Amino acid sequence: MSRAIKIAPSILAADFSKLGEEVAAIDRAGADYVHLDIMDGHFVPNISFGPSVIKSLRPHTDKIFDVHLMISPVDPFIDAFVEAGADIITFHPEAGAHGHRTAQAIRAAGCKVGLSINPGTPVEAVEPLFDDLDLVLVMTVNPGFGGQRFIESQLSKIETLRTWIDRSGRDIDLEVDGGINFDTAALAIGAGADVLVAGTATFDGGPEAYAANIEKLRAP
Ligand code: DX5
Ligand code: ZN
Repeated sequence: MSRAIKIAPSILAADFSKLGEEVAAIDRAGADYVHLDIMDGHFVPNISFGPSVIKSLRPHTDKIFDVHLMISPVDPFIDAFVEAGADIITFHPEAGAHGHRTAQAIRAAGCKVGLSINPGTPVEAVEPLFDDLDLVLVMTVNPGFGGQRFIESQLSKIETLRTWIDRSGRDIDLEVDGGINFDTAALAIGAGADVLVAGTATFDGGPEAYAANIEKLRAP
């Protein structure tokens, strides 16, 4: 059985001087989700952008806004991201002591819930929250920066999560983030992923190349 593969360009690799145009361009080029990387300089060693940027991008596309929070704490900011237009909010279990409460708060605010595991986090960290999730995000780089190298040792986590998800019979996205290119996309899909985040690989070559990049990532 071949499953449908969704592509989620990370706008971290876009031209920040014209983000609205960039988002409209990846929409036209066939992106499924828009992946929005939120970094606070505390949970990860980099700062990106916040809810006001997401809000300003919302009129430029109807695609799903896939918000990846690399921030700690999470809970005080959930409402701001929901109001800005998030559809899915993904957080890291290390961001706070009460991940289940965070998941409930995201759901209560009207968003889908994602949990992300770092390369150093065991796949078992997903288990306690599994029933409350719509998406599991396997990081294949250490979060904080685009353009890093794919860590192949994480593929076994994707395989494990694919069996858990299939066994559950639930419609849970299995997303992979970090170092996805045409070679590693094939590895991630082979391991069972069905949503690929791609920053560098999507935006390489400028707007004329986006559609071809996205199609090649979808069927590497
Ligand atoms: C890393 C971010 C990723 C990043 C991916 O912390 O979560 O989404 O933008 O960038 P590439 O695709 O360039 O590895
Ligand atoms: Zn991300």
